[in-house]
Amino acid sequence: MKAAQVSHYGHADVVSVAEVEKPIITADQVLVEVHSASLNPFDTAVREGYMKEMIPLELPFTIGGDIAGIVSEIGENVSTVAIGDKVYGQANVVGGNSGAFAEFAATSAKQVAILPTDLDFDQAASFPLVGVSALQALTQHIQLAAGQKIFIHGGAGGIGSIAIQLAKHLGAYVATTANGEGIDLVKALGVDEVIDYKTQSFTDILKDYDAVFDTVGGDDFTASYKILKEGGVAVSMIAQPDEAVAKERGITALMQSTHVTTEALDQLRELVESGVVTARVGKVFPLAEVQDAFTARETAQAQGKIVLKVK
Ligand SMILES: NC(=O)c1ccc[n+]([C@@H]2O[C@H](COP(=O)([O-])OP(=O)(O)OC[C@H]3O[C@@H](n4cnc5c(N)ncnc54)[C@H](OP(=O)(O)O)[C@@H]3O)[C@@H](O)[C@H]2O)c1
Repeated sequence: MKAAQVSHYGHADVVSVAEVEKPIITADQVLVEVHSASLNPFDTAVREGYMKEMIPLELPFTIGGDIAGIVSEIGENVSTVAIGDKVYGQANVVGGNSGAFAEFAATSAKQVAILPTDLDFDQAASFPLVGVSALQALTQHIQLAAGQKIFIHGGAGGIGSIAIQLAKHLGAYVATTANGEGIDLVKALGVDEVIDYKTQSFTDILKDYDAVFDTVGGDDFTASYKILKEGGVAVSMIAQPDEAVAKERGITALMQSTHVTTEALDQLRELVESGVVTARVGKVFPLAEVQDAFTARETAQAQGKIVLKVK
């Protein structure tokens, strides 16, 4: 089968499509015939070797996490999905799976679920990591309630754009940062207040918020504690919390580690099927053009997710 492999760490040009053995599943895995996959910043980090000390991988490996496709084999312990089911989820090598950007992916049955009805494979593949990240942050860590005020840093991004839709659905007042075309996008998603991150400072404008959800990182995460009420919650996808400053201000700050599970994907499916969150596919590339797909993501050539069409 064909797979996009990384044989040494580096820029987009280290990824090449090669002919490799079809993966063999374990008792707890499923084999998915991948129809579409999508790119996330994490794939770039893995490709560049940022994870290599923490999670050593044997080279070459198949890159990618998010998939949508059809189950073609199931392990003997698997009862949650059946052969022929259309599923979406994750198949990252970092999670012990065979990798997403390939014609077939062997992945844990606990990391896939039936995909939302009425979505095509490209749309379904755009959701797993970003959708579950937004869902986990807002419902589990922040426990956002109607009438609360949340600031979402980076609202036009993959995670931010879903977080906006979910926060509005939960009845919150939502402020966000964006720039350029991203400003029109976040307005269309229904935000109450947009701050242009290139010309304005959110710390000068926002105050008395219940929650911060940061998808950008850097020093702005600690700076964002200032806009919270006492007892508020700040969650970052990237930055480590400054415990001392958080304690001084009487807020809770944490960095989230997203867990893409069947349960979370099932919750996400309900939100998609009820129209709360919508898919945002920016550009679609064939698997053979995986290098261009990475470059498009990393140079922000499109609003919306970059998708690989595998079948
Ligand atoms: N901890 C975990 O388990 C986990 C899981 C998933 C993702 N992540 C991380 O979460 C982050 C976000 O992921 P994503 O998929 O949403 O990425 P993304 O689609 O690239 O979105 C990032 C957004 O941030 C915006 N941005 C860049 N600089 C900004 C600034 N100074 N102020 C405000 N906004 C700014 C970008 O806007 P422009 O288009 O204007 O540049 C873009 O819309 C990534 O770093 C990813 O690695 C972590």
